[in-house]
Amino acid sequence: MPLLALDAITHIFRRSGGALVTAVRDVSLVVEEGETVALVGESGSGKSTLGRIALGLLRPDAGRVLIGGKSLGEMSSRELRRERVAFQPIFQDATASLNPRRPVRDLLRQALRQRPAGATESTSIERSEVELLESVGLRPGSAYLERYPHELSGGQRQRVAIARALAMGPRLIVADEPLSGADVSIRGQVLNLLSDIKKERGLGYLMITHDISIARAFADRVAVMCQGEIVEQGPATLVLTEPTQDYTKRLLAAVPRLFQ
Ligand SMILES: Nc1ncnc2c1ncn2[C@@H]1O[C@H](COP(=O)(O)OP(=O)(O)OP(=O)(O)O)[C@@H](O)[C@H]1O
Ligand SMILES: [Mg+2]
Repeated sequence: MPLLALDAITHIFRRSGGALVTAVRDVSLVVEEGETVALVGESGSGKSTLGRIALGLLRPDAGRVLIGGKSLGEMSSRELRRERVAFQPIFQDATASLNPRRPVRDLLRQALRQRPAGATESTSIERSEVELLESVGLRPGSAYLERYPHELSGGQRQRVAIARALAMGPRLIVADEPLSGADVSIRGQVLNLLSDIKKERGLGYLMITHDISIARAFADRVAVMCQGEIVEQGPATLVLTEPTQDYTKRLLAAVPRLFQ
């Protein structure tokens, strides 16, 4: 059973003037246990909309979201809450996902409390706030516990957001442009961190990015979105070296030479 299966998902937005926008059209996509799938495509192609649907934050107008074979639409609110803990988001702007009125210690403690009972049995999972902070490279962890989100740098905030996601013992991380807000030096560090987490924990990732170099560094499989549809998907090595679609070829050609 795949970790996540999106089955024929369609989502339509109504703009304030009344016009309808089909942000996602009949998209099917699977993420297996331990697999990283990069969702690439130009701005406005529907990537974030699909990511929010996968996280259960947005209800699709048509199609099903299956978690371990079970449809989100058929779950009780209790089951839904439990599954949401297993699927954790990391967004571009960590500030928005961290409560500004709570120090780091509270943010992590609250996340640790939400972890399902079964997840704590794994030895690769940290048990304390300090361990969590050190696992994302904030050392010594004790130095960060009493700080508030605004007292951290952008890169430190993103690490705390990642630590918070990990605290819940997730099986899938949906990362929506997690590096776009960071400057070049921090991007490398955070990318390495995400890649270490992937190796150590065997998590599934849905990595949303318009940056092909990230997909190349990170993904097992790539799905290419264009105007709400997936126009091409397959192993990263194949799609990123021998794309069959003109749209994918154009995306690849647009990568600055620095990253190639
Ligand atoms: N809340 C909304 N109301 C109306 N239209 C929306 C809404 N959110 C997104 N859209 C539209 O849906 C389409 C897909 O948007 P989405 O944010 O999913 O794109 P994206 O691929 O994530 O783009 P980017 O790379 O810029 O983040 C766009 O045309 C966008 O204008
Ligand atoms: Mg987006």
